[in-house]
Amino acid sequence: MKKKFAISNSQMLCLIWRNMLILLLIFLLQGCKKNVENKHSNKFLEDLIAQMTIDEKIGQMTQLCLSTITLNGNKELILNDSLLREAILTYHIGSFISGTGNLADWNDFVRKIQHIAMDETRLHIPVIIGIDHVHGANYINEATILPHNITLSCSFDTSALRLAARITRDETLPSGAYLNFAPVVDLAVNSYWPRFYETFGEDPLLTSMMGKVYIEEYQKKDPATGISLSSTAKHFIGYSDPKSGFDRTPAYIPTQILYEFHIPSFKAAVQSGVRAVMLNSGELNGYPVHASSHVVTEILRKQLGFQGVIISDIKDIDKLIDEHHIARNRKEAIKLALDAGLDINMACTTFEFSHWIKELLNEGSIKEKRIDESVRRILQMKYEMGLFDNPYPVLSFDSSIFARHRNDAVNLASRSIVLLKNKGILPLKKGSRLLVTGPAAHSKSWLNGGWTFEWLGAQEDKQPAGMPTLFEALGNEFGKQNVTWYPESDLLCNENTVQRKIAPFDAVILALGEPPYSEFKGNISDLLLPEEQLTLVRKMAATKKPCIAILVEGRPRVICPYDSLLQAIIFAGLPGYGGGIALAEILSGKTNPSGKLSFSYPSATGHIVAYHRKQTEKYFPAWPFGYGLSYSTFTFKDLQISDSIVHADDTLSMSITVTNNSKFSGYETVIWFFQQEYGQTATRPVQKLFAFQKIFLKPAETTTVKSFLIPSQHLSYPSDKGNLVLEKGRFFVETAGIKRQFYVQ
Ligand code: BGC
Repeated sequence: MKKKFAISNSQMLCLIWRNMLILLLIFLLQGCKKNVENKHSNKFLEDLIAQMTIDEKIGQMTQLCLSTITLNGNKELILNDSLLREAILTYHIGSFISGTGNLADWNDFVRKIQHIAMDETRLHIPVIIGIDHVHGANYINEATILPHNITLSCSFDTSALRLAARITRDETLPSGAYLNFAPVVDLAVNSYWPRFYETFGEDPLLTSMMGKVYIEEYQKKDPATGISLSSTAKHFIGYSDPKSGFDRTPAYIPTQILYEFHIPSFKAAVQSGVRAVMLNSGELNGYPVHASSHVVTEILRKQLGFQGVIISDIKDIDKLIDEHHIARNRKEAIKLALDAGLDINMACTTFEFSHWIKELLNEGSIKEKRIDESVRRILQMKYEMGLFDNPYPVLSFDSSIFARHRNDAVNLASRSIVLLKNKGILPLKKGSRLLVTGPAAHSKSWLNGGWTFEWLGAQEDKQPAGMPTLFEALGNEFGKQNVTWYPESDLLCNENTVQRKIAPFDAVILALGEPPYSEFKGNISDLLLPEEQLTLVRKMAATKKPCIAILVEGRPRVICPYDSLLQAIIFAGLPGYGGGIALAEILSGKTNPSGKLSFSYPSATGHIVAYHRKQTEKYFPAWPFGYGLSYSTFTFKDLQISDSIVHADDTLSMSITVTNNSKFSGYETVIWFFQQEYGQTATRPVQKLFAFQKIFLKPAETTTVKSFLIPSQHLSYPSDKGNLVLEKGRFFVETAGIKRQFYVQ
């Protein structure tokens, strides 16, 4: 038998050569196929551009709000036929945004628009419909509302993001709205900023990894239709750290910090093949980004190598006149934006773009070549998406798709919610009698937050019928007879009445936080939780019943010093459709919490510092980045590193032993930081994340978790010109507070 399979050395060599040749051939053939495809697309696009009039070209660069072509100018999906014809046939508009409705209405609406573009125009160029599906397909009425990114990022689990992207893609595809203005990959370093909840937190690596996975998954080609939806990385750059904390107000970010912390997530998005990038509406270091060729062309195009479509934020060319006061009129503003490098003007309501560009062309202040560059990128995007072959949304779709994702929504929330404090009260005993109160206790809109079925997301009656509130979910989990809801107004009365009301209960659940808001609607001047909520905390704590706070909020609202009055605190963020169930199951112990903060939770309203702070910055958060408790007790020991001296391209391996010393199975996240002892080009952060892994351990189980770093990749940092430098000297790796030193030589 043995002999039958034995082969000689020369036969073996032959086999190896043969396999290598086959591999080479496959490689060459694939390269050829790609080249043929590129050649085909280049020829197709160049032929098309050669036939286009200047009006048709400018139309491609113009994006209008859907309200310009709907009945009565509202966001509902009822077309105004003559306006639609005018937009497409007279102005040659290439894309539209925003609207809200049922899937069937979306499908029908987009189909009608595409019919005009495909059947009645000279060149049959399909339009693109853009949409802000930022937490699930949130502009489709039946959609599964997923947790917002700030909650999802606390999962420290890229597979959660992949799932979120897949659900969003699958629910969006049949609508025909193929360009998503997501993900936000801005860095959340300012807790006041009202778009904090749309981000993946304060760390550049975590944000890069979450953004990357989202984009890769979202843009995957659908095998049935051949369509690949597009995503947009936004908002380039510096939007998230306005000095005043208010939305769209100026940011002042030193260029070294910009390169080291804010740019990497956009770089990762570009490397992941993101097809569009949206610009920051605000100004950075004294220049509105929409008018900055340094930011748009020099950094985004040249340094990051982005070849896709650069799109303005809504009406932002006009804002150069009315808000930034850097242009005196539309013509000047358009010239500034085109010189900066913009491709699509999200003009929303005006058709004037075309008129002024033509005037600029006539005067010779811009060249048609410049217009062609943008048009080429836009058409290339449409081509890559498969729109030319398949412009219409699918004819038949499976409406049960939404119902199938409801459990996933619970699962995503369960993996992400963070237990911040537990004085032994959680999990609650079976059959506990619970009083639940606070503004988030019996509301769906609070769990879902902004961008839910409408921009603001504040309408309670628009929330999904089957979605339980926290109170309802607690009733299902603990037994309806055991759970009572009181609106907070019923408890803000005199002490005796409160004592009487509260007497039958074992614990009080206080669902606190923020009502839904989006963008500037969420501007606040005090990060402290609103006074009425703090009064409620004081009142409830004074009854001596154990109090558990659940924070349903889009940013870390300060709760110190009232945290000491509470036996347990949970950060739910904006957990979406499954939030109530996930929270109830965490309280009962059915789910062992495993989220970790993707940001530093401030203890004081005027002291907002990220964990990657400088040595001289004071860091005293209520809970630091990476913090999160579990019902399990994990112990970390025996941190080993492979070498004490490494060179630029060496691999330093490391391992740590983790044990679950409890009777609960649970997930733990191993978070790896490094530190550089002395910075030579710039001062270095006290800590910086370079890897993380989420592991699952059964009771008493031990495992060894391994990681690695390569100095040139992980330890180098950008100068204020953006060039990476790797400095020699002493470094440390750290996990769970255990450190080891090593030298880079
Ligand atoms: C927001 C963008 C969004 C756009 C389109 C703007 O107000 O800043 O993030 O994509 O509206 O809805």
